[in-house]
Amino acid sequence: MTPAPRSNYKAVWNTLSQTQESAILHVCGYVDELRFCNDAEDTLGLLRGTIGLRADDVVLEIGCGVGRLGRVMAPFVKEWIGCDVSSNMLRHAQRRLLGLANTRLVEISGYDLRPIPDSSVDAVYCTAVFMHLEEWDRYSYVLEAMRMLKPGGRFYCDNADLESEQGWRMFEEGRRFRPDERPPQISKCSTVPEIETFLKRAGFKDVRVERRQNLWVYGWAVKPEQPSSP
Ligand SMILES: C[S@@+](CC[C@H](N)C(=O)[O-])C[C@H]1O[C@@H](n2cnc3c(N)ncnc32)[C@H](O)[C@@H]1O
Repeated sequence: MTPAPRSNYKAVWNTLSQTQESAILHVCGYVDELRFCNDAEDTLGLLRGTIGLRADDVVLEIGCGVGRLGRVMAPFVKEWIGCDVSSNMLRHAQRRLLGLANTRLVEISGYDLRPIPDSSVDAVYCTAVFMHLEEWDRYSYVLEAMRMLKPGGRFYCDNADLESEQGWRMFEEGRRFRPDERPPQISKCSTVPEIETFLKRAGFKDVRVERRQNLWVYGWAVKPEQPSSP
């Protein structure tokens, strides 16, 4: 059967997450639960050091997968909202988040966050998702973050960095596929200028972009208190 095209995110990611094991494998590339939890703590630390986490924050994750981060973050914030295109991923997330009453899961179209009202959340983040999206859809989510955030709200996003050694290896591995045999979820990197441009074009202020671990490029920024004049 021909796989769904990359931009049919719902079909692609529902297929990859039919079982819990397959879902976890496609979230992080392995199924070792201890490593999975340690990596979640690592990402939590990165979010604390960039956008920060406050006890009265409503925090939203775009592309939350099986709730890897929701589970470690929910105890430190007022509410954690996990959004994902895949109903299967959300089903696995529901199990992982059992007992965490301040969490909520929302299925989205794959192109916008329409169920979430304007100016309703304090922080938005999107990690390990941009590599699976077309560039236009990455930017649409940056714009959606701007819409959903309260004035002064914080946004974080990341991707594999084309300029890093590992990012370049990823690029070369992808190039080896015949064009008609490329898996639809194959990772596509970003660069520092791409992330910076998206954040600035969307109207964010205090834009910062950095690299880490010879793999990642990540950016974070703040929604201005006053809308910028046209
Ligand atoms: C590699 S996993 C990362 C999950 C989670 N962010 C984490 O770090 O544990 C990518 C996730 O993005 C979701 N996804 C893929 N395309 C999406 C889209 N267009 N909109 C929202 N979520 C999407 C997938 O269903 C999957 O759960």
